[in-house]
Amino acid sequence: MKCLAVLTSGGDAPGMNAAIRSVVRVGIDKGWQVMGVRHGYTGLITNDVISLGARDVSGIIQQGGTMLGSARCPEFKTEDGRLKALRVLNEHKIEGLVIIGGGGSQTGAHALSQMGFPVIGVASTIDNDLYGSDVTIGVDTALNIALEAIDRLKVTALSHERAFLIEVMGRDCGYLALMAGIAGGTEAIVIPEVETDPEALADELRSAYQRGQAHALVVVAEGAKYNAAALAEYFKKHCKRLGFDLRVTTLGHVQRGGAPSAYDRLLATRLSADAVERLTRGEHGVLVGFVKGEIKATPLAEVVANKKLLDLHLLELARMLAK
Ligand code: ADP
Ligand code: F6P
Repeated sequence: MKCLAVLTSGGDAPGMNAAIRSVVRVGIDKGWQVMGVRHGYTGLITNDVISLGARDVSGIIQQGGTMLGSARCPEFKTEDGRLKALRVLNEHKIEGLVIIGGGGSQTGAHALSQMGFPVIGVASTIDNDLYGSDVTIGVDTALNIALEAIDRLKVTALSHERAFLIEVMGRDCGYLALMAGIAGGTEAIVIPEVETDPEALADELRSAYQRGQAHALVVVAEGAKYNAAALAEYFKKHCKRLGFDLRVTTLGHVQRGGAPSAYDRLLATRLSADAVERLTRGEHGVLVGFVKGEIKATPLAEVVANKKLLDLHLLELARMLAK
C-alpha cells in the first residue's frame, strides 16, 4: 500500500485539525496508508512519525490547534536539515507529503519539492498573507475573535469616554487589522503596508474628541512600524492632550485559539481533500488554495516568488466610514 504523510507547520491556525482529518479520511478512501508527522518539520528531522487511522482523527473537527503539534524549525532552512528529513521520509517509504501551513512553511515545501520529493501545500495561516489563496485556513476564526474583543472594548471605552489602541496579530501583513477595523467600526487602522504618522493619528483622536465622540478605537497590526506599545509611548512623550484617556489592549495569541468557525472547517476540509486527490493523480509541487471562489492549485515556485497584496482601497473605505 502506498503511503502519504501530513504535517502542520508554522503558527497554528483554527481549522488545522479539520484539515488533518480530511487528509486522513480522504487518503484512506483513495487507498493510501496515512502517517502523521508531529511538530512540523522538526518531526521530519527527528523521525517523530505516527500512523493515522480514520478513528485517530475522530472528534477533532471542532477543536482549534493541531493534534499533530506545530513548530518553527530553523534547521529545515538548511540543506543538511532537509537531507535528514528526506532520509526519514524514505525510511518510512512515504511517497507524498501534505504540508499545511503559511508562507514560511510553503517555502520549506518548495525547497523539499526542488529536492525531488512529491509535496503538496495547503494554505493555512491566520495572517492571510499567502500568495495563491484569497483566504487561508484560520483567518475567519481569528478575525471573529478580534471582532468580539473590539465589540467588548467598545462597551467599556464608551462607559469611560476612553480611547483604546487594540493590537491584533499580523507579522508582516495588515489583513486582520484592516478587516477587524472595518467590521468593528473603529476610528482608525494602523497597518505595516502604509506608514502611519503618529502625529496625524493623535490629531484624528483629538478631532474625534472635539466633535463629541464618546469613545475612539484604533486597531493596530503588530507588524506596523508603530505597534500599539510604540504608539502609546509616542503619545505619552509627545502629545500632551489627546482629549481621551488612553488604554492599550494586545490580543496576541488569543486570536489563534478557540474553535474553528464553520467557514474554516469547510475550507480546511475541502482544500485538504483536493490536495489528496491531486497527489493520488500524481500531481505535486503545488499549493492548494481558494481563488476567486474556486479551489485552485498554484505552483509552489510561483507562490514563493510572489507577495499577496492587501487591497488598500479598503483602507480608504475605512477612513470614509470613520466620521
Ligand atoms: P508560517 O508557515 O506560518 O509562515 P514560519 O514563517 O515560521 O511560519 O515558517 C515555518 C517553518 O517553515 C520554519 O520554521 C521553517 O522550518 C520552514 N521554513 C521557513 N522558511 C524556509 C525556507 N526559506 N526554507 C526552508 N524552510 C523554511
Ligand atoms: O504567522 C501567524 C502568527 O500568529 C503571526 O500573526 C504572529 O506574528 C506570529 O505567528 C507569532 O508567532 P509565535 O506563535 O511563534 O509567537
